[in-house]
Amino acid sequence: MATTVKQMDLLGGEAYPSYEEIIEACTKEFANYVLPKGDTIFGFWMQTLADLELLDLELQGLAEDYTIDPVKRKVKLDGDEDFIRSRIAHLERVKGEPTLYSQVVDMFGDTNAYAFHNLYPYKGKFYPRVVRTLINAFKLNSDSLLLDPFNGSGTATHEASLMGGIKYESKR
Ligand SMILES: C[S@@+](CC[C@H](N)C(=O)[O-])C[C@H]1O[C@@H](n2cnc3c(N)ncnc32)[C@H](O)[C@@H]1O
Repeated sequence: MATTVKQMDLLGGEAYPSYEEIIEACTKEFANYVLPKGDTIFGFWMQTLADLELLDLELQGLAEDYTIDPVKRKVKLDGDEDFIRSRIAHLERVKGEPTLYSQVVDMFGDTNAYAFHNLYPYKGKFYPRVVRTLINAFKLNSDSLLLDPFNGSGTATHEASLMGGIKYESKR
């Protein structure tokens, strides 16, 4: 059982918060700051300004119109919601429902090493969601042909085949 050690003031009183109380208060404050608010929200894996640019690129290819709120970590968008939900890599939910990408990430417990992406683990690999972003930005569809002459561990081709192969099922 965890014991809480109170810090004492010079007279033996408990004037100061304990270490645990400070951590708990900071955790609440931090969660309040970083957790997105809204029904169309960033994925928790979006950590850098580069991710913000990638989200923007994807939405250019997928949505009819959109605005990104980087502070509240949410997006307003118009377009085919089910299609966007099935394709987008940088959103966790679209209009309240989880995206296919977030479902796959949950299933494998990893934002990069899902499906066969970890068959050949290598630190310098492409992030699969960068590939997904490019496919979305270029508006490729199941009639498109993606060739990778420097296929390496196959991130681009595997992600492309996943995008063509896994069908999104709405949970509504
Ligand atoms: C960075 S990796 C490519 C990653 C890959 N596009 C993906 O999506 O995972 C570069 C690959 O190109 C291969 N390569 C480099 N020079 C090559 C060449 N002249 N001919 C064929 N393959 C080459 C390397 O062996 C390596 O597997």
